Amino acid sequence: MCGIVGYQGREGACDILIDALRRLEYRGYDSAGIAVLQGGSVKIARKQGKVSDLWNMISSENFAGSMGLAHTRWATHGVPSERNAHPHKVGDVTVVHNGIIENYLELKESLKQDGRTFVSDTDTEVIPHLIVDYLDKGSGFEEAVRQALKRLKGSYAIGVMKDGSETMIAAKKESPLLVGVGDGELMIASDAPAIINRTNRFIFLEDNDVVTMTNGELKITDFDGTEVDREVKTVQWTGAMAEKGGYRHFMLKEIFEQPRALSETLIGRIREEEGEVVFDDLDLPDVSKIRKIWMVACGTSYHACLIARHMFEANLRVPVETDIASEFRYRDPILDRDDLVILVSQSGETADTIAAMKEARKKGLYTLAICNVLGSTLSRESQGVVYTHAGPEIGVASTKAFTTQITVFFMLMLYLGRLKGLLDSNDIRRHLAELKKLPRNITAILDSSAVIEEIARANMHYRHFLFLGRGINFPTVLEGALKLKEISYIHAEAYAAGEMKHGPIALIDENMPVVVVSPKDQTYKKTCSNIEEVVTRRGRVFLFTDTFDHDMASKSDAVFVIPETIYELQPILSIVPLQLMAYYMANHLGTDVDQPRNLAKSVTVE
Ligand code: F6R
Repeated sequence: MCGIVGYQGREGACDILIDALRRLEYRGYDSAGIAVLQGGSVKIARKQGKVSDLWNMISSENFAGSMGLAHTRWATHGVPSERNAHPHKVGDVTVVHNGIIENYLELKESLKQDGRTFVSDTDTEVIPHLIVDYLDKGSGFEEAVRQALKRLKGSYAIGVMKDGSETMIAAKKESPLLVGVGDGELMIASDAPAIINRTNRFIFLEDNDVVTMTNGELKITDFDGTEVDREVKTVQWTGAMAEKGGYRHFMLKEIFEQPRALSETLIGRIREEEGEVVFDDLDLPDVSKIRKIWMVACGTSYHACLIARHMFEANLRVPVETDIASEFRYRDPILDRDDLVILVSQSGETADTIAAMKEARKKGLYTLAICNVLGSTLSRESQGVVYTHAGPEIGVASTKAFTTQITVFFMLMLYLGRLKGLLDSNDIRRHLAELKKLPRNITAILDSSAVIEEIARANMHYRHFLFLGRGINFPTVLEGALKLKEISYIHAEAYAAGEMKHGPIALIDENMPVVVVSPKDQTYKKTCSNIEEVVTRRGRVFLFTDTFDHDMASKSDAVFVIPETIYELQPILSIVPLQLMAYYMANHLGTDVDQPRNLAKSVTVE
């Protein structure tokens, strides 16, 4: 997740861009760069590290000029380095880019055959090369950009400048980009917080919009050059509100970001037509020798492991052992050198998970991290890493990290299934088609958030909740209960529904509401019996299922219907209403949702 920003106005662009970049650093950073039009040519500077490192490097240089672009990078293709940092300048053309160009290898190959030389490992560099190619063939600047865009597959928000031109061009497809309309100035940015100090008037661009800005004049067209009308919206956000995208809390923003976060997790990794999953730079040892897979993590990340165990065992027929990192590190588990150890962590800085990784490495096992934070200790010190690309998670209660971790696990299961010869391209294509529906299905759940808020408001006075689920949804309810207790301080316990009779049923009465997650899979009937048992004891039931059932509805206080999906992916959908329910209860109870008492975002001590 990179951040881009552009300025065209009357003031010095450099200071404005650096200030905006600092506000975009929350999108992740490993390098930063700036480009300013100066005396007819675009001058660029790039630096590995933080925006402050870039600023230290250029503050004494002359970067005068009132039009420029800047970028903060979070590497996806190519290691963090100055060479791979943006802007990328080829000939007269300078580009900053956020997103992933899926067909860059193919484009790079054909551009190389035409004699073009590449100097970075990024996917981005093909964009200025393509634009230069069309310019060389006689197209004007705007037309050359349009032609280049038509060749790209994938997601992008880009800003482009050209030596000798007063025009800045920007475009977007499936990556965020907005235009800020200020007093005598125009800006582009990945996100409102970057420029909210200069304007509160924004055009939220749509996919395939091409923006042309010349001397403060703005034109928006589609890829074919036809002008489109976009409304300028005035928002009443403070800087802090803008960071939260207008949401009351980061947690709510992050819950609502899940469709986009999931899409970003998939970008560049799935080839649906070919029935393939690709993980660049992942160099696993011989998978045919793997005797057992270990999945180790803490808290929410551990719950993702429990879900993954179901999908791995069912599809790969390999034994999976899940462990809490603080247990794994001390119990001296029986490890075999050929076992694979997968460590999961949003932050990549959780002390126990890092210690577990070191323990496994010491014993000679291959360690693979599933991690959200680039450059974190876990991601650096594990032999392999797959990033979740969820973007920064700021709310202490983990939400989008969880759903993207499960998404990565699902892709990894398909990847290993292919390598082990257990899944063919048809199987993978079928699974990928289901995977691709998830962002839309999560959006459908989020669209009904008012229903969940009502349930939450009506029931937040209870001091205890029991959560029940079976199979792959047992970990879902563990996670739902964790969300509720950590932010609302309401006591919540989760059980595998089959265990209810073995003890917890003693707790059931009118003061113990029961949250049940039960899609209509092979265990649905069994869970219906549990519901009957709860109702007989005057317990109140809140049922989350994927098919409306009149009989169960008549026994439940509320039924929330989740879109249908395949078994392996159910938790990604069924957790969303539970996240919302926890959030709304906490919010109405008035707790500090983003920073619940006694908790820290990353637990760097044992
Ligand atoms: C719960 C939560 C924690 C973390 C746990 C592990 O909402 O956020 O349970 O999941 O502390 O953190 P990471 O994933 O950063 O290792």
